[in-house]
Amino acid sequence: MLKIKDVQFVKSISRLQDKPHPYYPEFAFAGRSNVGKSSLINCLLNRKNLARVSKQPGKTRSINYFLINRQFYLVDLPGYGFARVSAGEKKRWQEMIESYLLQSEELVQLFVLVDAVVKAQKNDLQLVEWLNHHQIPFAVVATKADKLSQFRLNVHLNEITRQLQLDDSHPIFPFSAVKRTGRGELLGYIDRLLKGSV
Ligand code: GTP
Ligand code: MG
Repeated sequence: MLKIKDVQFVKSISRLQDKPHPYYPEFAFAGRSNVGKSSLINCLLNRKNLARVSKQPGKTRSINYFLINRQFYLVDLPGYGFARVSAGEKKRWQEMIESYLLQSEELVQLFVLVDAVVKAQKNDLQLVEWLNHHQIPFAVVATKADKLSQFRLNVHLNEITRQLQLDDSHPIFPFSAVKRTGRGELLGYIDRLLKGSV
């Protein structure tokens, strides 16, 4: 299993030109505002509030790079779909996320986080369509799995799989930052991707 030995917050950027050097393989996390991106990163890294978690949606407004084991980056992207921001701000975030995804040659895999309770929303579908169009490799993480019974969770996982037309090359991982379920699976998957065995 992939052991988290060393974690460094490296940089927060709002323009891709400012991305940190040297380059390492990157794993990025995208999803609707409040879906649990920062909580998932903290959980994976065994840190309380390294990636800032807030009850207030729209907290992560820039692209945050965390260097793990001096080997790869985890990248926390700003959340989309947050209602209470101006149209201009929304457009700026979207452009930031899209340029990150199109221009990051070191990106190994994007994780699209979808709330397991509310399932995929319109903007999740749009993102996945866009990713398929641009052939950007991604997997889905169904967050907040602790809020559902095992039975409901399975029903919702199947529905999200159907909604997003997921297949073997786009797996879905149930996850809970509260109960830490799915952590080992996700780290194992990242490990296999790093070793080129997926
Ligand atoms: P933005 O940075 O605003 O885009 O949000 P985010 O996607 O980073 O979400 P964040 O991790 O800040 O979590 C948002 C809220 O959801 C917080 O109140 C978290 O405590 C809660 N939350 C996150 N993960 C889980 C989970 O696995 N289970 C439960 N029950 N709540 C969670
Ligand atoms: Mg966040």
